[in-house]
Amino acid sequence: MRAKARAYTNIALIKYWGKRDETLFLPTNNSLSMTLDRFYTETSVDFDATLNQDQFFLDGHQVDHQEMKKISTFLTKVRSFTGEGRFARVDSVNHVPIAAGFASSASGFAALAAAAMKATGTDFSKRELSQIARQGSGSASRSIYGGFVEWQKGVEDDGSDCYAVPILDQDAWDLRILSIEVTHEVKKVLSREGMKRTVETSPFFEGWLQAAAADLMEAKQAISDRDFTLLGETLERNALRMHATTLGANPPFMYWQSSTVKVMEAIQALRMEGLEAYFTIDAGPNVKVVCQPEDEQQLLSALNKLAVVKHIYACRIGPGVTYLDV
Ligand code: DP6
Repeated sequence: MRAKARAYTNIALIKYWGKRDETLFLPTNNSLSMTLDRFYTETSVDFDATLNQDQFFLDGHQVDHQEMKKISTFLTKVRSFTGEGRFARVDSVNHVPIAAGFASSASGFAALAAAAMKATGTDFSKRELSQIARQGSGSASRSIYGGFVEWQKGVEDDGSDCYAVPILDQDAWDLRILSIEVTHEVKKVLSREGMKRTVETSPFFEGWLQAAAADLMEAKQAISDRDFTLLGETLERNALRMHATTLGANPPFMYWQSSTVKVMEAIQALRMEGLEAYFTIDAGPNVKVVCQPEDEQQLLSALNKLAVVKHIYACRIGPGVTYLDV
């Protein structure tokens, strides 16, 4: 049976940074994200009894051995969850700038999880889908839902209480996200490797865990009150705290480039002038800026004047997983 799904990327306002179990993708802290409406992955999965191994085509090309192994390991998790016995052909098309901090793994594994689960023909809940997607890439657990989403770390060793939950609908609060590209370069330390090194070696990691828990409470309060200033201050602070842990790792590493810092400085300067916007950065040099609709145009024109800015993608809050006709 064949099935096709689309999933959008998400941007974390409170970051997921650190795992307590690497095989099951169990995080050390709760995280909170907004799903975006602009970057997405469409994936079709066909379980086929004539195949003697899994096949994966990304943007029409067969991927290398290492990438294939990741997908096959993930499909094996889907097979053991559902009892599906056949191998699959997977076709994935990415509408995301890959590996530059635009979170393609989130939309990628969310779309793959949804299409694969549907293609097995079994019944499953969104909660189960979030748990499955999580085991491809942690942040994918959040892309199952649209709007504002919290991924709960849970306490159980088997991950049974570790999944994402929607906390505010896509249309309930109109915020804008400017995704600012300062480089096309592929990141040097992948997030998986970066968070592992941080957990194992950074003396700041303990502080991060405490800070992330407090930041999460504030962010949830801000969302429930629609308090943009509180949300903005919290998300910017949380991003800086996450990046601070990488400086304490051994060997230390840093995702920012000088162009990243230029954009951060520009946002802070604009804020001093009364234009309210806040930045966040994932495991790469590009910057995302969160603002209110009335400030979007002014912000766009100010940021487009910066020499370091290559491209700005203006995003809104997006939907959760959708299924497409095959
Ligand atoms: C900095 O979900 O890509 O973007 O679970 O190892 O696949 P794995 O990591 P991934 O990490 C995302 C880290 C982050 C913060 C976030 O999205 O919460």
